[in-house]
Amino acid sequence: NYPQSVKLVEVGPRDGLQNEAEPIPTATKRELIHRLAGAGLPVVEATSFVSPKWIPQLGDAAELFPSIERKAGVHYPVLVPNMKGMERAVEAGVEEVAVFTAASESFNKKNINASIAESLERFEPVMALAQEKGIRVRGYVSCVLGCPYEGHIKPQAVAEVSEKLMEMGCYEVSLGDTIGSGTPLKAQTMLAAVAQRVAMDRLAIHFHDTRGQALANIQACLELGVATVDASVAGLGGCPYADGASGNVATEDVVFMLEGMGINTGVDLEKLHATAVWISQELGREPASKLGRIPVEK
Ligand code: HMG
Ligand code: MG
Repeated sequence: NYPQSVKLVEVGPRDGLQNEAEPIPTATKRELIHRLAGAGLPVVEATSFVSPKWIPQLGDAAELFPSIERKAGVHYPVLVPNMKGMERAVEAGVEEVAVFTAASESFNKKNINASIAESLERFEPVMALAQEKGIRVRGYVSCVLGCPYEGHIKPQAVAEVSEKLMEMGCYEVSLGDTIGSGTPLKAQTMLAAVAQRVAMDRLAIHFHDTRGQALANIQACLELGVATVDASVAGLGGCPYADGASGNVATEDVVFMLEGMGINTGVDLEKLHATAVWISQELGREPASKLGRIPVEK
């Protein structure tokens, strides 16, 4: 039941960089985005229009976004948490945004200072403005396989909030294993529960690799027919000061696995690999991916 092709959503410039402690020049972020689009990624999440007090690293979004040379056919969504972010994003000329909430009340409170219900209320005017401007909206649900504060999260809770995001007008919902605590069979159970309420072709999976389970989880979910996968080049992400914290599954590792399974992604693995090596050098570290540490095979 595997899909023939998978749409990869590259989240490195946003999810990958948002926790970096050292300031990264805007020009480096721009070059990263250009290289990722150049490697054939169809979606490159570019930045966030969130509070710069909460996420200082992406405080240059209003400067960065308009400076991107957008490649035809590539989408460059940005995160917006509220109307203020949406207005800033519109001003910067975005054509796609992503709103984000969680299946856990405690996590949402820490992340966006709102309950789940309050967050959905905040999104209402955002959705209305998006519709008026012809801007596509993606939705994220965090903590779909566990929460750092509440522990176990019921698949039903994930299904409910996912369905609400779709009803509000999102074209796709990305299911985030924020803390990378999921394992393959749990991931399947959760995805199957959500797919009862939201069509599988509207769902994306978003695994963090904190416990080394991400590729196995992705394979398990592909088996159920999901065909959109979020990933971060070089496995960027996580907090460099928290032991063991890690980023999203690495895009190049996902591409390697999918190619081996005969699933098409449209990505040029050599160019992607070179990008992983380059950005890791820029950040002064080894790539967190497996593939980034070995020469790419021709
Ligand atoms: P708050 O403090 O409750 O907001 O934060 P507020 O509305 O009371 O405003 C406080 C101040 O922030 C005000 O400024 C606002 O103008 C300003 P002041 O009057 O004090 O000078 N402000 C803004 N400035 C710029 N852009 C904005 C904005 N909004 C308010 N959009 C808020 C609430 C939502 C703003 C805050 O909590 C926030 O920005 N949170 C973002 C957190 C975040 O980005 N987290 C990471 C992304 S989510 C993620 O990584 C998970 C994901 O990858 C999936 C997964 O892995 O699960 C997507
Ligand atoms: Mg994430």
